[in-house]
Amino acid sequence: MDKKLPVMSPGGTPVVSAPGIDPDDLGMTDAELEDEIRRLKRERNAVILAHYYQESEIQDLADFVGDSLQLSQAAAKTEADVICFCGVHFMAETAKILNPDKLVVVPDLAAGCSLADGCPAPAFERWLQQYPGHTVVSYINCSAEVKALSDIICTSSNAVKIVKALGDQKVVFAPDKHLGAFVAKQTGRDDLVLWQGTCIVHETFSERRLLELMAKHPDALVIAHPECHAGILRHAHHVASTSGLIAYAKASPAKRFIVATEAGILHKMQLEAPDKELLAAPPEDESCSCNVCPHMRRNTLAKLYLCLRDLQPQVDVPEAVRVRALQPIQRMLEMSV
Ligand code: 13P
Ligand code: SF4
Repeated sequence: MDKKLPVMSPGGTPVVSAPGIDPDDLGMTDAELEDEIRRLKRERNAVILAHYYQESEIQDLADFVGDSLQLSQAAAKTEADVICFCGVHFMAETAKILNPDKLVVVPDLAAGCSLADGCPAPAFERWLQQYPGHTVVSYINCSAEVKALSDIICTSSNAVKIVKALGDQKVVFAPDKHLGAFVAKQTGRDDLVLWQGTCIVHETFSERRLLELMAKHPDALVIAHPECHAGILRHAHHVASTSGLIAYAKASPAKRFIVATEAGILHKMQLEAPDKELLAAPPEDESCSCNVCPHMRRNTLAKLYLCLRDLQPQVDVPEAVRVRALQPIQRMLEMSV
C-alpha cells in the first residue's frame, strides 16, 4: 500500500495515516530506534504487548509476548496508561474493549486479519438469522462488531473447553472453519454450524510437501496450529495454540519438530527450546514466504517508534459496540482462569 495514501481500517472505516511521516525516512539505525522505544515507553508509562507472530526485534522489546488469550489477559490487568499493541487490529480492539479509559495505540492501523476481514458484521448478522436458538461462539479473530453479535468469545487455546462447557446447546462457530472443524472433532459435536472463513497463512501449508519433509526427517514431530486445514492436522502429533506449541516443543523429549504455523513463532520457540531443531512447515509454492503473515509484519521498529512518539494511530471502538462486545469477552476470561 502507498504509505502516502489514506488507509482503510480492517473494519472498512476510512482512517487518515500519520501525516507526512515515512517510517523508512527516519534515518535511524535499529539500535537507535530500540533505545528510543525503551525511553518513550518509560516516559509514556506504556506497556508493549506483542504476539508471537511479530518480528523478533519487536518481540524482544515487548513487556509481554503471548498468544491471543494471554494477550487479552495481560490487557485486562495492565496498570499502564498506554497499551501499545504489536499484533493485528482485532487484538488491539479487544484491549480497547477491556480498557475504555486507556489509550490503545498500534504501529500500523491497517494490520488486519483475513479471518476478521472475511466475516463482516452485516453479513454475519444476516447469516445468524438462519440459526435461532443457537449459542454464538466467535473466535477472537473477528471485529468488535462481530463480537457484539456473539454470546461467547474463544481463542485457539480454549475453544474446545468452551464448546464442551456448552453441553448440548446448539452452537454456531465463526469465523474459522478449520478451527471449527477441529473443535467439532475434539468435542464429538458434528452438528456445529460453521462460518466458512480461513486464515490466509495457515491455508497455504502443503500436505504433499509436509509428507516429503516428514519422510526426510522421520524422527521429527509435527506440531500444528488448529487454523491449519485438515490435510496438515491429520499428520500432527500435537495441535495447540501458539503458546501451547511452544510449551510442547520445550517439554517434549523429541529433538526435531516440523512447525505448522506462522514463522514468527520460531523466534520464541527457539529461545525456549534451544537444544531443539525447528523446521518450518512448507507452503505449496516453494518460492513464496506464505508462512509469514503480511498483516502482522506491517508492524516495524520504525512504526513502533513513531507510534510511541506520537501516540498515534489510536484504536477506538464506539461505546455501544464496546459494551455489547465486552460481555462475551468477559465470559471467555471468566472461563479461562
Ligand atoms: P493464537 O495466538 O491464539 O494461537 O492465535 C494465532 C493467530 O492466528 C493470531 O492471529
Ligand atoms: Fe489473521 Fe492468519 Fe495473520 Fe493470524 S496469521 S493474524 S489468523 S491472517
